[in-house]
Amino acid sequence: MSDLAVRSRFFFRATVVLLLVQLSSLISFSQTKPNARDLLRQMTLEEKVAQLSQLPGFPIPEFKEQVGNPEDVVRKYGAGSVLWVSDPHEINRWQHIAVDESRLHIPILFGLDVIHGYHTIFPSPVAMASSWDPKMIEAAQTIAAREARAAGIAWTFAPMLDIARDSRWGRMVEGAGEDPYLGAAVARAQVAGFQGAQPGALDRVLACAKHYAGYGAADGGRDYDSSYIPEEQMWNTYLPPFKAAADAGVATFMSAYMDLNDVPATGNRWLLHDVLRDTWNYKGFVVSDANAVHSLITHGYARDGQDAAYKAFSAGLNMDMASGTFIKYLADEVKQKRITMQQIDDAVLPILEAKIRLGLFEHPYVDEARIPEVVNRPEHQEAARAAIQRSVVLLRNEQNLLPLDKSKVKSIAVIGPLADAQNDLLDMWGALVKPGPTVTIVQGIKEKAGNGVQVEFAHGPNIRRDIPSFFENTPIITVKEQPQQTPEEARRAIDESVALAKRSDVAVLVLGEIALMSGEAASRASLRLSGGQEELLEAVAATGKPVVLVLINGRPLDISWASEHVPAILEAWYPGSQGGNGIADILFGDANPGGHLPVTWPRSDGQEPLYYNHTLTQTPEDAPDFTSRYWDVKSTPLYPFGYGLSYTSFSFDNLKLNQSEAKVGSTLDVSVDVTNTGARAGDAVAQLYIHQRAGSASRPVRQLKGFQRINLAAGAKQTVHFKLGPDELQFWSPAMKKWVVEPEQFDVWVGESSQAKLHTEFRLIP
Ligand code: BGC
Repeated sequence: MSDLAVRSRFFFRATVVLLLVQLSSLISFSQTKPNARDLLRQMTLEEKVAQLSQLPGFPIPEFKEQVGNPEDVVRKYGAGSVLWVSDPHEINRWQHIAVDESRLHIPILFGLDVIHGYHTIFPSPVAMASSWDPKMIEAAQTIAAREARAAGIAWTFAPMLDIARDSRWGRMVEGAGEDPYLGAAVARAQVAGFQGAQPGALDRVLACAKHYAGYGAADGGRDYDSSYIPEEQMWNTYLPPFKAAADAGVATFMSAYMDLNDVPATGNRWLLHDVLRDTWNYKGFVVSDANAVHSLITHGYARDGQDAAYKAFSAGLNMDMASGTFIKYLADEVKQKRITMQQIDDAVLPILEAKIRLGLFEHPYVDEARIPEVVNRPEHQEAARAAIQRSVVLLRNEQNLLPLDKSKVKSIAVIGPLADAQNDLLDMWGALVKPGPTVTIVQGIKEKAGNGVQVEFAHGPNIRRDIPSFFENTPIITVKEQPQQTPEEARRAIDESVALAKRSDVAVLVLGEIALMSGEAASRASLRLSGGQEELLEAVAATGKPVVLVLINGRPLDISWASEHVPAILEAWYPGSQGGNGIADILFGDANPGGHLPVTWPRSDGQEPLYYNHTLTQTPEDAPDFTSRYWDVKSTPLYPFGYGLSYTSFSFDNLKLNQSEAKVGSTLDVSVDVTNTGARAGDAVAQLYIHQRAGSASRPVRQLKGFQRINLAAGAKQTVHFKLGPDELQFWSPAMKKWVVEPEQFDVWVGESSQAKLHTEFRLIP
């Protein structure tokens, strides 16, 4: 045989063997569950660093300039994750690059902000928190997970657990409000909904506890500004929801953007290592917020990209979200021996394990044909509608204007710049994902009112931000500002609205904030109804027609005038896909509102930050002859934390403790009778508050330590039980520098808000 023939046979055989090896590795990597440590052993340093990186799934010129084309990175080294690809077809295209073309075929974990729904959009988180119904919240996030996972999203950047005590901060809308106890309960419910009992099931997603931690305490409520939070408040107020999420098994954490006590959260070893890993023994992985690793330079904390990569990684961060800093510098840090390979392996391992647990190796691709069948299930829409019914908060209802009586009301004027809105009912994140159709409020009212009632619509003046949102110009956000109007156009719009109100029996005004007025980069200095809405409201109210104000917004607004002059006010927040239907259900009494505020409602922005669980001063608010800390406005809220009305009424009596004196460490039983004293069935939210009268530190005037939402038929009575044990009675003492339960006297109140009157007390003894 000629030399050439031997060589070509050899090459032929070698090629076949190579192909078989490649094929078998493809089969083994795409169809079976690998072992994370085996995988790690085969990886080069660069491949490991790629797993520590989340690449942008959309064009970022700086990233391309610094690191190269993200798709080429995937081809060459793979990638831990890709951000913001929401189109399933695109997800498959990226995944094929990772699985077919990268050496080790490790699938990508796609991450997206599925905050309150993917196709079926549920009410915003602050709205769902208003339900005080963790089971409902869990069910909602189960549906969000099912839809997102069917579309290839296996990781959501939710829940947002930032305590928000300042309504000027735009991101209040994304969280559960101001209270750590309610926040922790909502955190657990969301983690359970997203992840299920067994993280990794094919209809669930990984959750991400964000923004760790203290983001909501931004100076002046200005988004991204520094937070200065004493350790006492970190432990007692800002960390509990995160601890609850960690205990509930949340798969990932996200480090926040801002400086926390002068050390940016993304480079803060106390947060990411001492608290999260050492104290809480957390085993999942931590991703930065977007570009936050690179931002360590902007903060004036890191000298350059190399230093930023070092500081973030050694603080305890696993994954760099889209800044390219890890990809660019981490391998070099290992070569320079500032970071060890063991540290890199420890950081990569939980990421590989998460992918394995999720079944991504066996099921890397989206079955595009199956998506409509999953996301269009009618029961998802029904659940979204029920969630609105449970989330809406009735703030005022003079002379029982609500519910509207179809036998009396024959014509309804639906007025306002948000009455025919679609995307604006979803908030910014709801509009970012792949929302299905949205029922506007006019549509919902028309549908519900039926043929006998005439429903007409007037838009009123347009509303828009004075300073536009930078999100409006991103390729993936579909929600827009309303067009600029001339003063004459705005005036005409008000006149038309007034004329409509005059020829109608009732006016329903739908006012508030377009989606881009709340959320990220949407803080505001004034909480007043913007853009001619106050004028519109006053002009319509001046017609003398009964007015119902429906608020669509992400935070309390200054409605002091309305609270005295408008007989009925419904806080609907951003209600989601079924907005119009859910609100119409409430307006016409097919559902009875049972939502309660998860935030304190200020009279004016000048009072912010305003929260109920502050400590006492030498001149308490209710001291005799003391009226306000301000001379131009009362310092009390317009509506207190926990407040919400119903179409029925409740009484709370017979508050009992099983012991009036108990040893430190014991658990007390509390019971109270709740009676529906009105004429229709409704939901009461029984809320339990405590106060420790003295101790090693001043304690808040009140702290929520238990709640239950119950349904009662007209006239029905139920005894509600609570437990008060060490978990509820402990606090982190700044004097002792540890968690303590102190032998002191305690007050207990139970009722319908943080101003509940029904009181008892007990003593803890050593
Ligand atoms: C936000 C995060 C979000 C991330 C990815 C950031 O701007 O602060 O909450 O998860 O973008 O979308």
